[in-house]
Amino acid sequence: MELRGIQAAHAALAQEIEAAVRRVFAHGRFIAGPEVAEFEAALGAYTGVAHCLSCGNGTDALCLIMAALDIGPGDAVFLPGYTFFATAEAVMQAGAAPVLVDVRACDGNIDPTALSSAIEHCTAGRPRAVIGVDLFGRAADWPALEQIAARHGLLLIEDAAQSVGGWLEGRACGSFGRAAAVSFFPSKPLGGVGDGGAVLTNDSELAQKVALLKNHGRQGGPYRHIAVGGNSRLDSLQAAVLMTKLAHLAAWIEACDHAAARYAALLPGWITPLRGCGVTNSRSAWAQYMVALPHEEARLAAEAALRARDIPYARYYPLPLHRQPVLAHLEAELPICDRLSQTTLALPMHPFITTEQQAEVTQALWAAGRP
Ligand SMILES: Cc1ncc(COP(=O)(O)O)c(C=O)c1O
Repeated sequence: MELRGIQAAHAALAQEIEAAVRRVFAHGRFIAGPEVAEFEAALGAYTGVAHCLSCGNGTDALCLIMAALDIGPGDAVFLPGYTFFATAEAVMQAGAAPVLVDVRACDGNIDPTALSSAIEHCTAGRPRAVIGVDLFGRAADWPALEQIAARHGLLLIEDAAQSVGGWLEGRACGSFGRAAAVSFFPSKPLGGVGDGGAVLTNDSELAQKVALLKNHGRQGGPYRHIAVGGNSRLDSLQAAVLMTKLAHLAAWIEACDHAAARYAALLPGWITPLRGCGVTNSRSAWAQYMVALPHEEARLAAEAALRARDIPYARYYPLPLHRQPVLAHLEAELPICDRLSQTTLALPMHPFITTEQQAEVTQALWAAGRP
């Protein structure tokens, strides 16, 4: 059984992917081939944003946004304490101060009330930006974040690394804030066969800056440079594979919706899916199917039962950001981040999971017994 169905997706699309890869080999433009611009246009259209600038990975996308927005020393940037390290890393790479904020137990996304309080009591630097993360594929509370950012005059940035294909109130994940960073890491909802990422934005000026920074500050010819940037690009083969997969993304997410409904019906009552905070018009991209157990011992028992049947599972994240050695000096107290890291579990979830496989997973959890 697979946790994320990467092999299953490639088996289902083998012919399409092979044909796309063959086309790239035929023209031989492995860097900046036509697939890159085609994919950028398609993802921009899918998410409804004007500019999609592909790059090397999601971490680069976050760093490019920081640099293009001139976020740096003296600036404080607010982000959830429960996310992949890259969200904080991009802030620190820029020389700004990360301020870790607690999250909501219902979905692990940044808690707007805790965010307001962190901004009002900030001593880490000049409050400058908020990064909302659409954790596990589910959109953060963007309407609340937009209000808070506007009230305090802060930039709003979306870390949509896990949420391409997700929606909130008719708006696509990747379209919130001034700019969004997405990742095409293979296990993501839209995953490549290697690294990849993109910056999405409606801001033309920002898009121009990102385009410069990701391409050695090049302008007016291949060997003319007007700024110091770097090299971060999506190669033609990745773009070709991603283009193939993008055509199936909506159907895949629908299949995951059905699988999530099946899990909800089959899971024991003491295991609760993280399903959002009562917002009905939100659609997860199902980067992970996360469940919460009543306490840490119950999670250990559930993990043992899954292992005994060779069923894959994962912990996201075993250490929340404030427990990371490199961030311990912040001395943040984030009780919900702690609780989620101790009690949650990712179960197998992908468009190709079968009813029988889901029954096997839930039977193992029932067998672990009521805590
Ligand atoms: C929330 C979040 N932000 C950023 C990243 C970084 O993306 P990448 O691995 O493509 O650099 C990831 C990837 O795991 C992520 O989950």
